[in-house]
Amino acid sequence: MVLTLVTGGTGHLGRDIVDRLVREGRPVRVLARSRGTRSDVEWAIGDLATGAGLQDALRDVDTVIHAATCSPIARRGGIRPTDFFTSPSAVDVEGTGRLLSCCGDAKVRHFLHVSIVGLDDATLPYARIKLAGERLVRASALSWSIVRAMPFYYLLDRLLAGLAWLPVWPVPTTLFNPVDTSDVADHVVSCAFDQRRGERPEIGGPEDLTLVSLARQYQDARRLRRKILPIELSDAKARGMGFVVSRGVRGRLSWADWLQRNESAERARVPAREA
Ligand SMILES: NC(=O)c1ccc[n+]([C@@H]2O[C@H](COP(=O)([O-])OP(=O)(O)OC[C@H]3O[C@@H](n4cnc5c(N)ncnc54)[C@H](OP(=O)(O)O)[C@@H]3O)[C@@H](O)[C@H]2O)c1
Repeated sequence: MVLTLVTGGTGHLGRDIVDRLVREGRPVRVLARSRGTRSDVEWAIGDLATGAGLQDALRDVDTVIHAATCSPIARRGGIRPTDFFTSPSAVDVEGTGRLLSCCGDAKVRHFLHVSIVGLDDATLPYARIKLAGERLVRASALSWSIVRAMPFYYLLDRLLAGLAWLPVWPVPTTLFNPVDTSDVADHVVSCAFDQRRGERPEIGGPEDLTLVSLARQYQDARRLRRKILPIELSDAKARGMGFVVSRGVRGRLSWADWLQRNESAERARVPAREA
């Protein structure tokens, strides 16, 4: 069996990807800045932002699944004014470039890059950074695949939890189909080994729901009562903010089921709870 290197294998999507690879009996090496706890994978310590450890991490690797990112919004679970002006590029652009170059030297046979649906119209700096990373992949001489996914439920959950202190939530009426990392991981792993290459089908969640409806389901699941103020956005504005519907592959797990499954983990985070 060929060796697969997963970058970002300690992150939300990366952990699910690693789980699936291990379950399928595939040898896995995880590139991480510090060693994780699982003992059923090899650990390669490295840093995409500096290039440290990349050459060693790629030794004997056949397939790379690149799921590392540096998204300050995802990391802190909230948007700050600065996110509308800047986003760090050291991991997603320079780091992707370094990794691609080392993959070329190491004769990697397939480089699968994880990206985001709707980047071409999106205006947030993080989206511009992700698009720049994609462009490097497309321009590389490697055999590559790009899989774009809709925003993940865990991120939506964190962003909505951050609104809990507000008595009124201004929420766009735009349709959206976020997705769970478990469904994205299934799709990514199948794309990694089906021998096809290039732009792969994007993936979104099973239901097209307005953001208002997603927020209501969130409030019901977390037993919150907040007034929702529906906001009409123009198509261009909605696309600029990444609020789109993916027409590609559909995941199976619904937002309502995800909220139910993840209730206990979130209990501690939502401060005000009303019966
Ligand atoms: N979140 C979303 O809604 C969403 C939607 C669509 C697509 N995506 C894409 O899916 C992928 C995974 O996203 P995610 O939300 O699962 O990410 P995440 O949970 O924030 O995890 C990010 C991963 O990147 C690693 N990383 C960060 N800086 C690094 C560095 N300097 N060197 C090496 N590794 C580094 C982190 O390792 P540490 O453990 O060391 O921090 C972590 O494993 C990304 O490509 C993202 O753009 C995300």
